[in-house]
Amino acid sequence: MGRRHIQVGLAGLGNVGMGVYANLEKNRELLGDRCQADFNIKKIAVRNLDKARDRDVPEALLTNRWQDLIEDPDIDVVIELIGGTEDAKSLVIEALRRRKVVVSGNKALLAEHGQEIFALAQEMEVPVYFEAAVAGGIPIIKAIQESLVGNRIELISGIINGTCNYILTRMREKGLGYTEALQEAKDLGYAESDPTLDVNGWDAGHKAVLLASLACGRWVPADQIHVEGIEGISVNDIKFVENLGYTVKLLAIIRGSADTSMEVRVQPCLVPRQHLLASVNGVFNAVMVEGDLVGETLFYGSGAGQDPTSSSVIADLVDAAVGLQHEEKRGYIPSNEVAAVMPIEDTVSQYYLRLKVDNVPGVLAQVAAIAGKHGIGITSVIQPETSAPVADLVLMIDDAPYGSLKTALAEIQALKCTSDHPTLLRMETFAHQSV
Ligand code: HSE
Repeated sequence: MGRRHIQVGLAGLGNVGMGVYANLEKNRELLGDRCQADFNIKKIAVRNLDKARDRDVPEALLTNRWQDLIEDPDIDVVIELIGGTEDAKSLVIEALRRRKVVVSGNKALLAEHGQEIFALAQEMEVPVYFEAAVAGGIPIIKAIQESLVGNRIELISGIINGTCNYILTRMREKGLGYTEALQEAKDLGYAESDPTLDVNGWDAGHKAVLLASLACGRWVPADQIHVEGIEGISVNDIKFVENLGYTVKLLAIIRGSADTSMEVRVQPCLVPRQHLLASVNGVFNAVMVEGDLVGETLFYGSGAGQDPTSSSVIADLVDAAVGLQHEEKRGYIPSNEVAAVMPIEDTVSQYYLRLKVDNVPGVLAQVAAIAGKHGIGITSVIQPETSAPVADLVLMIDDAPYGSLKTALAEIQALKCTSDHPTLLRMETFAHQSV
């Protein structure tokens, strides 16, 4: 059988889009041999036609109307890399209506509108591939959809934002301040153009929604998961945590099943230093998946960056080509039902709490009295010696429901002897069941 020519419309020529363009060219021969297809980028939709690009792209390919990709009857596959959820949604919906295969790296779009998009895809009998939407170059979507399909997924614990992992690593290893470390991540092209979603946890939150929906087989509503970012973490906290034998990681935790309720959250957490995820540093991501048959698995790689992310997009393109040539190849998607999500207040954990307190007698007693009143146990207390008027007071909290701890903390913050914003970090045990 001869090679099929796959006509591709590429929407978005930013960091990842440029990587796809360049790497399809770089590995053209290899791809042709492996999947008996030639990929031809027929049109590229960009926002600004005049923008200077660090690589020559023939002007004839460029358009500033994404509709040109949809309206071209020769285009078989549309790659959506424009980000955002407005134009991107219209583009994907219109592409599916015209029965074009969609490849998207847009986690926000799929986390917020996945249920609707995949329902339309099923109606039109056209696949949507989204490997690049989670953990950059790590093939975690196909792993869950295909290789682990026979498993009940019991726990997913992941470091799935490269920017945050980079920032936390630089703060720990070099003592950089948060702002300086963020600037480095931006300069290296890891952070999104607007890094707000990286550092406030929502980039990982969107990815967690997708992983959780695949894990439980039902759509997890993005507005029901708990998400915290790393903006409040100081070098001071990182040092305290290190001395206690832990490291701080922004973790996505997905636990439980759709039959009961799912625990889905993204938070900076204390990870024991000997745990595998504690040694995942820099821009690297890692996702641990535990299934009832396979046990524990670990996927590690670059979670951001031009080449690794383009590797995932190209893999989707190959799946699309296989589908167009032979029988369609696509992994399972969640059913059209919605999963129940456990309220964060009901989750139970140990915690690290750092307070800034007046350095006077009786403070510890006041804090401990409030904790005791709410049934919260304190397992250890650290107050480095200082003659300064304000001191750090670090408390290790025993297993407590987050709801009770939140109430107690509000009372502690209202005490005259406490100042500044406290740092509250969950300690992760990686147990299958919530406590
Ligand atoms: N900005 C993301 C990260 C990359 O830092 O992980 C792609 O999601």
